[in-house]
Amino acid sequence: MIIERLSREHRNIETLLGILEHELEIFDRGDRPDYEVIRGIISYFQLYPELYHHPLEDLVFARLRLRDPAAAAKVGNLALEHQKGVERLRRVAQAVDAVLADREILRQDVDRIVRDFIESERRHIMMEDRDFFPAALKALQPQDWTEIASASTSQEDPLFSEAAEETFDELRARILGLEQEAEADRR
Ligand SMILES: [Fe+2]
Repeated sequence: MIIERLSREHRNIETLLGILEHELEIFDRGDRPDYEVIRGIISYFQLYPELYHHPLEDLVFARLRLRDPAAAAKVGNLALEHQKGVERLRRVAQAVDAVLADREILRQDVDRIVRDFIESERRHIMMEDRDFFPAALKALQPQDWTEIASASTSQEDPLFSEAAEETFDELRARILGLEQEAEADRR
């Protein structure tokens, strides 16, 4: 089901934001974070949410505007929010590139740019979970979902799926490691 898939993707995105935040804390105290992992997260965000998650949400949102304009208005300008996310991500990628290339950039600027991305994404996801998805579940008709499903590509997530890509091996290992740590803590 489409909303289930989008919600699952939100949980995956939150996992990645948590890892990015952890790496940022390492950077902030003057140590060297794992840049492989950071670059993996940036690549993932450039790829999957941009190409599949947001376009699918945009399809659902277009239907919501037809079925319940007031609910859609409450959600706001989704396309613009997604666009702003792309710009924030671009700033993150540039800042990390600058650090890796030893170009002059203030630590506090890197921190501000990455933190801004993490916090904005979290706020955006929270809004979608709270306002957008429930409104869509309420207002859309069965035929809307069928049409959205046929208009969207059923591309597998390159990080969180069976057909996962090699590019993300390092990042996936990190996610697995963190999950095992959390598991061990619970015991
Ligand atoms: Fe989303």
